[in-house]
Amino acid sequence: MLYFNEPRRKFIHQKFNFLDDFGRLIESGSYIKGDMGRELEVQIKQYLNVDFFSGCANGTDAITISLMASGITKGSKVLIPAMTAQASVVAVIRAGMVPVFVDVNSQGLIDVDTTEQAIKLHNPAAVLVVHLYGLTASLELIRKCQENEIVVIEDCAQAFGSKFSTGEYAGTVGDFGAHSFYPTKNLSTIGDAGGISIKNADKHIGQVIKSTAEYGWNNQREVIRLGFNSRIDEIHCSIISNQLKDLSKQSRSKKETCKTYLDGMRNHYAFTPMASNAEVSRCQLHLFSVCVKEPKGVDEYFRKRGVILGRHYDRPLPYHKKFTEFDFIKTKSKSNASEIAKTQRSLPFFPYLLNQEIELVMGIINEYPS
Ligand SMILES: Cc1ncc(COP(=O)(O)O)c(C=O)c1O
Repeated sequence: MLYFNEPRRKFIHQKFNFLDDFGRLIESGSYIKGDMGRELEVQIKQYLNVDFFSGCANGTDAITISLMASGITKGSKVLIPAMTAQASVVAVIRAGMVPVFVDVNSQGLIDVDTTEQAIKLHNPAAVLVVHLYGLTASLELIRKCQENEIVVIEDCAQAFGSKFSTGEYAGTVGDFGAHSFYPTKNLSTIGDAGGISIKNADKHIGQVIKSTAEYGWNNQREVIRLGFNSRIDEIHCSIISNQLKDLSKQSRSKKETCKTYLDGMRNHYAFTPMASNAEVSRCQLHLFSVCVKEPKGVDEYFRKRGVILGRHYDRPLPYHKKFTEFDFIKTKSKSNASEIAKTQRSLPFFPYLLNQEIELVMGIINEYPS
């Protein structure tokens, strides 16, 4: 079976580098907050060209810690797109904030007009902008929120390495960039890890983030705020660091796949790609998303031919049982998020996908009855 994502392929590629590092790590005796962690922070700061980067346990924590460190008071409202991973909203609630869902546009990104409407209606303290599928959300919206002193957290869990049209990386234009290094993500490890980036960070905010991620203590180990244990293990730092070195190769491999998909997909009536050629060239796509005109039976059709499609996501967040109590500002009565939940599918898409695998997918799409 060919799955929509297969992280094993990129890790196997670097197995011997990892094994060397594991040997060094075991002998070093320093398993948490050691040299590998410090090196990774420097490498990511250089890659993103930011003042601050700090690792934490996962992407959900990265959002929670950013909100906790932002100075926003508990109970404040945070706008969040209706179409994103469950983790995004869980992180907001866990930080003590109240989410307000905002509908997305046809690409699954937070809708600009609807966000402006939601700002007028709800006076939010922050907006969680999600770069879904690796596509960057509106830069103009981010700037406008900042002009209005609304804190912007960029959820970059799916977009490490994606750039805005200005050439700036995702995670470097908002007040905080929250990253996930979960195995399937663009930059990842063989377990859980995450991190927070800040373009222009003063010393204070950096200290608050690091303290919040470690019990809330200061350099003297006195607890001065409520924090939790959200560190990144050395073993993961070493793997992420190796993956970062391989990232441009992985990116080339994925961009070639995108090009073949975009050029070779002849059945545009039935399958519409959600990213354009221009977006593919500046963004580091995490998923290759298509809208399926008649989604009934499509998953079974592909499965019978050896391909498992993904769905991201089949239920908009406001319709999860736990989240129905929160407001949802829609673009139209049925909402774009609901339409995407029905029609979106993720094609097999990961570094080092083989030509014959891409051809298999293209063949199924181009022969799909429409
Ligand atoms: C958009 C988005 N935000 C946040 C997260 C949370 O990341 P993690 O699983 O590392 O906590 C994910 C991961 O699934 C995600 O896709």
